[in-house]
Amino acid sequence: MIGKRTVADLDKTALDAKRALVRVDFNVPVKDGVVGDDTRIRAALPTIRALKGLGARVVLLSHLGRPKGGGFEEKYSLRPVARVLEGLLGSPVTFVENPASPEAVLVTKQLPRGGVALVENTRFLAGEEQNDPATARLFAALGDFFVNDAFGSAHRAHASTEGVAHLLKPAVAGLLMEKELDYLGRALASPAHPFVAVLGGAKISGKIDVIESLLPRVDHVLIGGAMACTFFRAKGASTGTSLVEEDRVVMAKDLLARAGAKLVLPEGGVIAEALDRSDARREAAWNEIPDGWAMYDIDENTRRRFASIVKGAKTVVWNGPMGVFETTPFDEGTRAVALALAEATAAGATTVVGGGDSAAAIAEAGLEDKVSHVSTGGGASLEFLEGRVLPGVAALDDR
Ligand code: 3PG
Repeated sequence: MIGKRTVADLDKTALDAKRALVRVDFNVPVKDGVVGDDTRIRAALPTIRALKGLGARVVLLSHLGRPKGGGFEEKYSLRPVARVLEGLLGSPVTFVENPASPEAVLVTKQLPRGGVALVENTRFLAGEEQNDPATARLFAALGDFFVNDAFGSAHRAHASTEGVAHLLKPAVAGLLMEKELDYLGRALASPAHPFVAVLGGAKISGKIDVIESLLPRVDHVLIGGAMACTFFRAKGASTGTSLVEEDRVVMAKDLLARAGAKLVLPEGGVIAEALDRSDARREAAWNEIPDGWAMYDIDENTRRRFASIVKGAKTVVWNGPMGVFETTPFDEGTRAVALALAEATAAGATTVVGGGDSAAAIAEAGLEDKVSHVSTGGGASLEFLEGRVLPGVAALDDR
């Protein structure tokens, strides 16, 4: 129960032939016109199929990349995404090149019942990111009701995520949005204990607010990735050439003092003189990283310790890799965590993987189906875990 109305709350008999304007997050990697990863497109299929099945005309809005709002740019076009979507749905997808053209509204009205249209990148319009009311009105004209299924973009107050939800009613959450809010919301509000958060990645600056928000709720926060080195420095160790955010060392010291035993740091790391010198890598204790060496992964003892804490948990939230997981052999710590999450899930725990790098890591380990939920949101899942209000959700109709 997410506190917002969802598509399931709509009168199903009233949707026939209505235009459902659905904000999805099709911000997927596209290179030379080829979609590199269709996870986000597949994640939106349940909502699209449900609406199609009820006879609605489905009009999809999304951004892709970060164009500057100055009009069409080939490399940010959603056209390749439309082709992938056609393949996944097994039915045609009408492409609407310019939502600002007079024909756009007509095209949406002429869709067959159950037909699907995808509108070109919302960020080609300058008013999108400014949440300009005129741009929101233009989007609103493309539908008869609004569905926000773009959890990954819910932290953005843009015309197609926030503005339009005030203009086009009802404005409800899609099935993916509901699932994301449900899993992440339950982890925050009513987690089964032990509740363990695993946080990693390069920088603690992006995770400070998450740690602050999670500390009162969790039993343990396990810290991996280069961000652990800022904590090592806060404890007075020298960290060689490891990535350290000098301006956060004081903050890290304060967190360590307040968190006590809840915050679990690596006992040591896998170190090397450079990322491409993995042949000469070795393990070192957290306070014995020599000059000229950097930590690129957590060491084996830490992997075992983290895995055992995760496996004993009833709720796990994971965000951020334990090392440079894109570069073997520095992916072992991240794999160990992924595997531990899968084992915890099999033993009955609820496990939630935040988007971005950890989602990519769990997919690479082939374990995405072995955890309870992999979020499609990167920044959005972090902001949610920070306890912030997501404007794209706040604007939807209350239950
Ligand atoms: C994401 O990939 O995190 C979302 O699609 C949001 O994209 P943005 O950071 O460019 O707003």
